[in-house]
Amino acid sequence: MTIRVAVSGAAGRMGETTCLAVQNAPDMELVARIDPTLGLELGAALRDHRPDVLVDFSLPTSAAENIRSAVAAGVHVVVGTTGFDLDEVRGLVGANVFVAPNFAIGAVLMMSFAAQAARHMRAAEIIERHHEAKLDVPSGTAALTARRIHEAAPDRPSPPIHSVRLPGLVAHQEVIFGDLGQTLTIRHDSLDRESFMPGVLLAIRRVRTQGEPLLVGLEAFL
Ligand SMILES: NC(=O)c1ccc[n+]([C@@H]2O[C@H](COP(=O)([O-])OP(=O)(O)OC[C@H]3O[C@@H](n4cnc5c(N)ncnc54)[C@H](O)[C@@H]3O)[C@@H](O)[C@H]2O)c1
Repeated sequence: MTIRVAVSGAAGRMGETTCLAVQNAPDMELVARIDPTLGLELGAALRDHRPDVLVDFSLPTSAAENIRSAVAAGVHVVVGTTGFDLDEVRGLVGANVFVAPNFAIGAVLMMSFAAQAARHMRAAEIIERHHEAKLDVPSGTAALTARRIHEAAPDRPSPPIHSVRLPGLVAHQEVIFGDLGQTLTIRHDSLDRESFMPGVLLAIRRVRTQGEPLLVGLEAFL
């Protein structure tokens, strides 16, 4: 059955790439592009176009409200927006919410390898680099990586995060571990926003049956 998909933040960098990916997916139909700059408002789109899934790549200040509106309308939500407080969308009833601060498979592996290394090496620091228009600091990926490292080595403080914002960058992260006479660097680079699309499409296909009302992290589907 074709999955009816709406995208909020559709005029943005990630939103545009997502609309294209959904249009090219044989099992999906793009039913609404929601963005203030396009003149389509979320409530009207949910009512008039009846999506099965809303994908949100909007702003840290709009994501939670968009998620609440969609769930209240019985629409499942795939969330890529970072920099908002997840506590604002806990306990919602009516549809499922899937959140991933990073949809790139390489970034998911980077976090997993970092958690593994944290069990064996004494200290870690994170350097994340993004394009200059990124609104949140530190990045959601860096915050989640720090959490995974801390969970793997709870006796040590969470690793410091250093953030760089420069034109020319997309999304890049290094996790550097240090120990006696050696360092280990785990590095991931998203060179193009297409790197996120296989993960976004996978989440659209799985969110309806994920079995939990709120699920965080693409590794849950891998
Ligand atoms: N999860 C991931 O893998 C991943 C990857 C890249 C970026 N991101 C995140 O995705 C988000 C979007 O990034 P971007 O670079 O596309 O930003 P962007 O600024 O290019 O796009 C944001 C869009 O949201 C629109 N918008 C504003 N208010 C809105 C509202 N109330 N409802 C719907 N849309 C609204 C804006 O008009 C804009 O077009 C950021 O939080 C970014 O950190 C996540």
